[in-house]
Formats: sequence, structure tokens, C-alpha cells
Amino acid sequence: MDLKKLFGFVGKNVVITGSASGMSKSATELLIELGANVYAIDINPIELPVKKAYQADLSKKEEIDKVLNDLPEKIDAIFTCHGIAAFPGNELKVQQVNFYSQKYMIDNLLPRLSEHASVSIISSVGGFGWEQVYDKCLEVININDWDTAMKWYQEHPDLIKSAYVFAKQCLESYVVSKCMSKEFISKYIRINAINPGDTVTGLTSDFNKSTSPKGDEKEGEEMISNIFLNSWNGYTATPEQMGYPLVVIGSDICSYMSGQLIYIDHGLTSTWLSGALLSKNNKSIEEISSDSNK
Ligand SMILES: NC(=O)c1ccc[n+]([C@@H]2O[C@H](COP(=O)([O-])OP(=O)(O)OC[C@H]3O[C@@H](n4cnc5c(N)ncnc54)[C@H](O)[C@@H]3O)[C@@H](O)[C@H]2O)c1
Repeated sequence: MDLKKLFGFVGKNVVITGSASGMSKSATELLIELGANVYAIDINPIELPVKKAYQADLSKKEEIDKVLNDLPEKIDAIFTCHGIAAFPGNELKVQQVNFYSQKYMIDNLLPRLSEHASVSIISSVGGFGWEQVYDKCLEVININDWDTAMKWYQEHPDLIKSAYVFAKQCLESYVVSKCMSKEFISKYIRINAINPGDTVTGLTSDFNKSTSPKGDEKEGEEMISNIFLNSWNGYTATPEQMGYPLVVIGSDICSYMSGQLIYIDHGLTSTWLSGALLSKNNKSIEEISSDSNK
């Protein structure tokens, strides 16, 4: 079996953001290896042998438009991966970078996507619970004009206070709401997201600082370990453990998969979900199991 053929990227035009570092850099390296023509975009220089690299600030509409104008007329896969951490005062910027720019790019590139193309997004376990704010996320998803969206954000400071979480919840709501929309299904365009757990990347230091109320990196690191690792004697992931599965879901291997939010967290969020379901009747898995074995 020809594995490169199985992935289906040979000679295909692939657009990917965030390629200068972390998960997206790993994904970009694999896409190059698989024979794709990679058009990569980042605010920082990209030092990989891609077909074309763009240095652009994707929080700015004018810079996105410039890149969009230059990208090929036919695109076979999009991967949106760029992201930043949230700090007091950068709530709007987080919405621009972590959600709205990604929606804006995908919406505007849809007419250029080929039949059976794929859109793959990096969201986060941070978006867990997106169902609770789905209606609010849909409000901003349904705004197609950049300036109107920025106004909407400014009018909803309560929602964007949890800046990172809300942006990721919007990404996940976007996947779920768009997968069978006319513009996607008419060309069988697939859309999925991965939701990574704690991964060591270029963002790690900022995540640590932003998690500590005092901005203390060491304290933030301990808090993150308590939330994401200590309950399961866990360990942090590598960028490849996220970037490679991302490439797989965007490839022909997953050609019938769409609308999926794939948690890559060694089972952590499934355990949270199980706990939440069991807490409704105040019983543990063990108690239910011993009841049913009586
Ligand atoms: N690291 C983690 O633990 C973790 C966990 C869950 C989700 N994520 C998500 O994974 C994605 C990839 O991040 P990473 O962890 O690999 O971090 P990273 O910092 O290594 O990579 C992010 C890339 O995005 C680029 N970027 C940031 N702002 C940009 C802008 N305005 N315009 C263009 N490019 C910009 C950065 O330059 C960088 O190359 C992000 O969306 C992040 O939210 C990370």
C-alpha cells in the first residue's frame, strides 16, 4: 500500500496557519513530507521548505485580506492553528486571533475549496462545555462583517471576559453548526476540530503566566498541572502528538468524518463527562457496577 497516496495530499494545495511553532509546525512538516503544496501563514518567520510562506498578523483584517488575495484559486485543505493566551486587557485580541480570523478565513476561502476538501481546526479542552453558550456563539458566527463582529464583542464584555474559553467555544460551535450547512455540504467539504490537552509548545510560558492570578509562571504551571495532569498521574503532550492527528483528520484517511470535536487529552475530558453524568444520581462507577452485580 502506498501510504502517501492513502493520505491524499500529493500535489494538493494546502493552507495552514501558525506554522512557525508548536503543533502547527509539526503538522506542516508532515504535510510537506506527504507531498502537499503548503501555503503557510504566521506572524513570525516560517523556517520550513513550504511552497509559499506569508508573514502576517492574522488579528488584522487588512493583513488577512492581503494573504487571501494571494492564495491559489483552488484549495484542497485548510488547517487553522494560530492562537494566543489570554491576559487581562487582551480579550478582544484573543477573539480576533483565536476565533474570528479563523472563521473569516474559512468563510472567505469556501468558494475556492474543491469538492471533498477538508477544514481542520485546533480548538482546545478549554472549550469544554461549549454547549452551554452555543446560542451566544451562534450570534457571532452568523456575523459575516469584521467590523460588525468587533462591535458585537465590545457589546458583550461579560462573554469575552473568559477570553480563551469563549473563543474556543466559538470554534467548536462553528464546527458543529457548519458541518451540514449548505455551503459545506453542497461540495461535501468536511470540517473537524482537535481539542488538545496540555502540550509543551511556544505557548506554554504564556499559558502558565496567564493562569496565575499574580502572573507568576511557576504558580501557573502548578495550577495547570493540578487541573490537567495530577488527577491521572499525567504528563504533557508533545507538539507532534497534536499536529500529526490533525493532519490525519484533514486527510483522505478520514474522508467520511465531519462535524467532530476530537479531544486529544488521554481521556481527561471523558472522565470529566462521566463524573458530571454520575453526579446527577450521586453514584460512582464502582457503586453502579456493584449494584448491577448483586
Ligand atoms: N499548548 C497547549 O497546551 C494547547 C492546548 C490546547 C490548545 N492549544 C491551541 O493549539 C494551537 C497551536 O498553539 P501551540 O500550542 O502550538 O502554540 P505555539 O505558540 O507554538 O503556536 C502558535 C502559533 O500561532 C502563531 N500566531 C499567534 N498569533 C498570531 C497572529 N496574530 N497571526 C498569525 N500567527 C499568529 C504564533 O506565532 C505561533 O507560531 C493554538 O490555537 C492553541 O490555542 C494549545
